[in-house]
Amino acid sequence: MLGLILERNEALGRRAGLEQALRKALQAGQLRVGVTLPSTRSLATEVGFARATVVAVYEQLTAEGYLVSRQGAATTVAAIAGAGEPRRPTIAPTQTWMIDFLPGEPDHSSFPRTAWLAASRRAMERSPDDLFAYGDAAGLPALRVALGDYLGRTRAVVTHPDAISIFNGMAAAIGLLAEALRRGGVTRVAVEDPSLPPLRRIISEAGLEIVSIPVDEEGMSIDALETNAVGAVMVTPAHQYPLGVSLSPARRAALIDWSRRRSAWIIEDDYDGEFRYDRQPVGSLQGLDPERVVYAGTASKSLAAGLRMAWLVLPSGLFDPVARAKGRRGGVSNLEQATLADFIASSQLDRHVRAMKSVYRRRRDALIEALAQDAPWIRPTGIAGGLHFTGFLSQGGPSEREVIRAASERSIALFGLENHRLARLQPDGLVIGYSRSPAHGFSGALENLRSFLRSFG
Ligand SMILES: Cc1ncc(COP(=O)(O)O)c(C=O)c1O
Repeated sequence: MLGLILERNEALGRRAGLEQALRKALQAGQLRVGVTLPSTRSLATEVGFARATVVAVYEQLTAEGYLVSRQGAATTVAAIAGAGEPRRPTIAPTQTWMIDFLPGEPDHSSFPRTAWLAASRRAMERSPDDLFAYGDAAGLPALRVALGDYLGRTRAVVTHPDAISIFNGMAAAIGLLAEALRRGGVTRVAVEDPSLPPLRRIISEAGLEIVSIPVDEEGMSIDALETNAVGAVMVTPAHQYPLGVSLSPARRAALIDWSRRRSAWIIEDDYDGEFRYDRQPVGSLQGLDPERVVYAGTASKSLAAGLRMAWLVLPSGLFDPVARAKGRRGGVSNLEQATLADFIASSQLDRHVRAMKSVYRRRRDALIEALAQDAPWIRPTGIAGGLHFTGFLSQGGPSEREVIRAASERSIALFGLENHRLARLQPDGLVIGYSRSPAHGFSGALENLRSFLRSFG
């Protein structure tokens, strides 16, 4: 009834034991200021004492100032120093930057809270009661249907809801896919160089050997891929991470041809494919051969990384192996899935992506212009889409490490290419994100960045 386990010291006797246990709970803040205590009658029944004993305990603690009791009203926890204040466990905050040009996350201040809340309310009102059951381990059918339609429309993904599985973020999806591939006999996986280190780590932690394949201005080198015996390859064809280039049409065709000849799998990481500014979006690779390509998508760029929602569209030969590796792991709450399903079906995701595209496009344009004026020693590449681009640094100018160190002294967060490399194939470079929500607005952040970059002039 107290909602609290009281540790009573039996040796003290009934009254003193209860009194001390309650006092300790009050001192430790386990009962918040203003909380109503149970009536003396019900607490007496709960602990199996005479009511008079509990009355005496309440009177004593009231006298000591821990409790407030008024004639005819319930006894409550008093607001005195050291009592009733909940102890809040603290977690060290992650570093906050005044100005943040890191890649990776969208603008949190633009999260469509109102539309999300409305979708969540509708999902709660309209979903059948089995929303609260374990449900299908592959994911909520309503979300798989909505995603199938959305991905077909916006990314030219060829799919049926039965081929889709929902995961707690792409990291979980890739980990379980890698496990399924290993169980199926794959031992080596090719990845792009440079690429995102955590995904590489996840693949090797699943027991697969990583083979690195260089990337140039046309994307991953298929010639280099041909010289390696691998059972699968992971690529970012729409907007290579981190260089930003798109896989050229000739290489897309060559990659599909390679996978058919070798009976190898292609894992298409389409992390930010919705964001394309200057031309029509590049359709997915998966659309070219749904039986050889695993399409991997995420809500981390289009909505928020904190949602932890991602999906795989699987060739028929991989659906059951991935389902076996997944079991009940790596899934997402049905309530969140139902909300996203409604959010997509009511066209809110299209609307949000459209709005954010124009925000990011303006920021990208301003940033490119600023670099041209104030830092011509930074040469942007891969600017056509996504939420970041890479700026190569000219030889003879400051190095990647020098720029990053000097920026961090001014609380400006910049990220280097170095973190993504396997071999040293490219010159020094910065991976510049323009999607985060700077505390003082984007133009203020940009002004600060400009004055910082000019200082290298
Ligand atoms: C290249 C790339 N792939 C995938 C992801 C998405 O991963 P997740 O869905 O786990 O947030 C990211 C996010 O940073 C990314 O940069």
